Amino acid sequence: MKNIAIFASGSGTNAENIIRYFTANKTVNVSVVLSDHKKVNVHERVNKLGIPSFAFTREEFTGGTPVINMLTEYKVDFIVLAGFMNKISHVLLTAFPHKIINIHPALLPKYGGKGMYGMHVHEAVVNAGEKESGITIHYINEYYDEGKIIFQATCPILPSDTPEDVATNVHALEYEHYPRIIERLLTENGR
Ligand code: GAR
Repeated sequence: MKNIAIFASGSGTNAENIIRYFTANKTVNVSVVLSDHKKVNVHERVNKLGIPSFAFTREEFTGGTPVINMLTEYKVDFIVLAGFMNKISHVLLTAFPHKIINIHPALLPKYGGKGMYGMHVHEAVVNAGEKESGITIHYINEYYDEGKIIFQATCPILPSDTPEDVATNVHALEYEHYPRIIERLLTENGR
């Protein structure tokens, strides 16, 4: 059994979807959810499903030790970022080499980097007149959105689509693919 931790900063719909997917799964277990905010929906959402969640400050995430202690306590093998809006520190990267993945709501390498998160991404994509967008699942390295790409999926953008429409379509792709890719990675020795 592989234990995963999900890191999330806001609403946590992806966290919920991943937890539901792995309920009663024999190989993957979501053991804990960590956030960089106390008062966000993700806590209530995952606690309802019986998954514990904790909030740490930005400094605690950067310093690493309290977060790593918590991950050790919950015997975490693999970290999944799902709407986590903070940079992953060098300490965490060293403690979990090649074992931290992220989902980005666009087709990297376009529309990535600092400041490109959530609705900002969809607004930039629509403003640029793109004909398609999508999702990128990738490993984390020390640079924002630059780790090795694992998987991408696309959705068309119609001329009448608003950033909100694109967000809805991208979320649908996230729900469809992220749990499946996590499962594939963890049943292939995390590679
Ligand atoms: C998701 O669309 C995710 O791809 C994005 O935030 C949203 C979180 O939604 N992540 C980023 O922008 C990271 N750069 P959720 O809280 O409902 O899962």
